[in-house]
Amino acid sequence: MLEKLTKKIKDAFAKAGYETDVTLGASNRPELSDFQCNDALRLAKQLGKNPQDIAAEIARHLEEDPLFESVSVDGPGFLNFKMTDAFWVGQAQALLKDDRLGIPKTAQKQKIVIDYGGPNVAKPLHAGHLRSAVIGESIKQILRFSGHNVIGDVHFGDWGLQMGLVSSEIDRRRIARVYFDKSFTGKYPTQAPVTMAELSEIYPTASARAKEDDVFKKKAQTQTLRLQNGERGLRALWQHNRDTSMESIKKSYETLGVKFDLWMGEADVHDRSMDLIEKYKKAGKLEESDGAYVISVKEETDKKEMPPVLVLKSNGSVGYHTTDIATVDYRIKELAADKIIYVTDDRQKLHFEQLFRAVKKLKMVPEDFPFYHVAYGTMNGTDGKPFKTRAGGVLRLEDMIDLLQEAGMKCLADREGSDSWKEAVSRQVGVAALKFGDLINPPRSDYVLDLEAFTKFEGKTGPYIQYTGVRIQSVLKKAKDEPVLGDALQETEKELIQKIFGFQKAFELSAEKYSPHYLCMAAFEISQAFNAFYHACPILNEESKAVRSHRLALCHLTLKSLLIFAKLIGIEIPEKM
Ligand code: ARG
Repeated sequence: MLEKLTKKIKDAFAKAGYETDVTLGASNRPELSDFQCNDALRLAKQLGKNPQDIAAEIARHLEEDPLFESVSVDGPGFLNFKMTDAFWVGQAQALLKDDRLGIPKTAQKQKIVIDYGGPNVAKPLHAGHLRSAVIGESIKQILRFSGHNVIGDVHFGDWGLQMGLVSSEIDRRRIARVYFDKSFTGKYPTQAPVTMAELSEIYPTASARAKEDDVFKKKAQTQTLRLQNGERGLRALWQHNRDTSMESIKKSYETLGVKFDLWMGEADVHDRSMDLIEKYKKAGKLEESDGAYVISVKEETDKKEMPPVLVLKSNGSVGYHTTDIATVDYRIKELAADKIIYVTDDRQKLHFEQLFRAVKKLKMVPEDFPFYHVAYGTMNGTDGKPFKTRAGGVLRLEDMIDLLQEAGMKCLADREGSDSWKEAVSRQVGVAALKFGDLINPPRSDYVLDLEAFTKFEGKTGPYIQYTGVRIQSVLKKAKDEPVLGDALQETEKELIQKIFGFQKAFELSAEKYSPHYLCMAAFEISQAFNAFYHACPILNEESKAVRSHRLALCHLTLKSLLIFAKLIGIEIPEKM
């Protein structure tokens, strides 16, 4: 519809003798008009004419059009358009019929790989991993809704030094001896030798030990190399630890409504890494540096430090950059990716800049291949410092889930309902509080995790959106009339339709900028407009059947928009709360 309107205005410009493209935007002064066009100003400047004259001429051509209630020239030459009720009812009608709420499917369907989550085996997750999961999941849903073929890959961190640290510590404690016995040729036990709880203690202990004890550190490095070289026992032990970690992480992600299509890890591309290193060594694309192999990615124009990419360490092991290079190769060759998006915190900016340059330099992808790094800021605690759990340690996803559930439970304290109902809904509320509280900010900004504020039933919160959805569902459940839009609009009704109309634009921006915050803002405004309408206009108690039907139709339309929103940011709207 916006396109049609724009065309109309463009035609009016043409009639006045100006062949030009025009842009129509939401009005800067919504109390006076609905849409605004500033092209008369631009033209006047180019042609050395008076902008008000041009604008007035255009206005004259449009005045008679029944779509506009009024066309006015304001300020130095802004064209302002106020639309008729009939226009807005028409919009509502069209949106009501459309399951996609007017959001077009892309004409250029792409295969997009989105790399998010990025948890590491054995290492506890930190707040950054949580943000990656929340932001990445939403971007995935948004791009999928656009019609792209999107593959979410967790890119499990399972091939670095932490693996050698864990096995060295297990070795040091003299447990699970069989995995360290090089002469053993039998079958290894099917039962994992250490549990998740033990693993979460073993890693930090080992990591701390390596900082103090050089011999231990060397041993961990050697074990990492032996593992990467395929030593049977270490590989079997690694597999157990990986499985244990993965199972626990999968469960937590599921609770948070985060689902991956691929559970691949760094280790999955190990052979590919080795083949690529061979190939590029032969082709003379790698430089030798103190026994290691690197790719220099510095460019003349660089103002900041740009260290070379380390491909093969001098001891023969591979690290973070190598697995990422091989993973790009996998995604291009095996997944036929048209675009790759990474979601990590902004401290990894340099890593990705180096990576993108390296794979382009190796000609693994064309120079203009669309890589995108969604670099997000820090999740802080209410003390303004990076968020830590109450125990003060790094975040464990299970602890976070407990915190969310607890916060959700507080919200429902005065609600009637069975324990199992409360448990389920408090989880939905807690998850929505976290996700909305995170996503209402542009990803790049830091934000404060304040669960008390995030669980308020009013303001820019997830539970406010849920509450609005619940309210609408309860009205619709009791309603007996058919939803049919009428012709006339009350002020709050019109505002509601306008806000729902604005959802398309918010979607477009969120998809284009990989930033769900536009959608969060739109959903908040829709909820606010709905609640204003709800308080101003009786629905079920309205006497006129036609008006009742009309308002029910608006309820349906609002609910539809909130349900689409919920899906896009990965929250649920409970039946009641
Ligand atoms: N495992 C990494 C970390 O904890 C994040 C992985 C991000 N993805 C990637 N392809 N490098 O920092």
